[in-house]
Amino acid sequence: MTQTNNIVWHETTIKKEERQEKNGHRSAILWFTGLSGAGKSTLANALEQQLFNQGVRSYVLDGDNIRHGLNQGLGFSDDDRKENIRRIGEVAKLFVDAGTIVCTAFISPFKEDRKRVRELVEDGEFIEVYVRCSLEACEQRDPKGLYKKARAGEIPSFTGISSPYEEPDAPEITIDSDQQTVEESVETILTYLKGKNIL
Ligand code: PPS
Repeated sequence: MTQTNNIVWHETTIKKEERQEKNGHRSAILWFTGLSGAGKSTLANALEQQLFNQGVRSYVLDGDNIRHGLNQGLGFSDDDRKENIRRIGEVAKLFVDAGTIVCTAFISPFKEDRKRVRELVEDGEFIEVYVRCSLEACEQRDPKGLYKKARAGEIPSFTGISSPYEEPDAPEITIDSDQQTVEESVETILTYLKGKNIL
């Protein structure tokens, strides 16, 4: 039992392992990282649709959506991004504890922040999915018109333009989103999950 500032951890009655056994699959965080426009949300949602169809307990946490609620008020300074990822990491950990496969779609540009999330959960529960796409291709896609605005100086600290993106050194999965179709990419991830006996 850990005790800090008169706050005492209360062990839950139902354990993660019991939930996993009942669900018929293990839980994990699929951490999609990559530039804006690389296809993180598209992939996370397409994967979740497949998981959902198979009766897997899953959920998507998405950057834009979380910033509307839980992380409303956080901006895009290095410190705010760090806090954004820290909170999402904690939420993702709760999903893992709840026996769920949680797909998170955040730029999460800093290695250190992603590493900290990895360390929150057990070995094998954090699966880094690098959605790799050149800046040129992302900028050409520009689905929300944000790159155009960033180039015009209308968005400060824009990832890839005026704020860095640190590529993962050893992601569990790399998806080249300008070369693989969404269907192929989903298949790659499902194969990985089966290979690791998560599904
Ligand atoms: S981060 O870096 O992980 O905290 O970012 P995230 O929470 O994923 O939010 C990224 C989405 O916010 C929009 N947006 C910006 N992105 C990058 N830099 C700046 N300055 C910025 N301002 C707004 C943008 O729509 C991102 O969505 P995606 O889906 O990545 O394109």
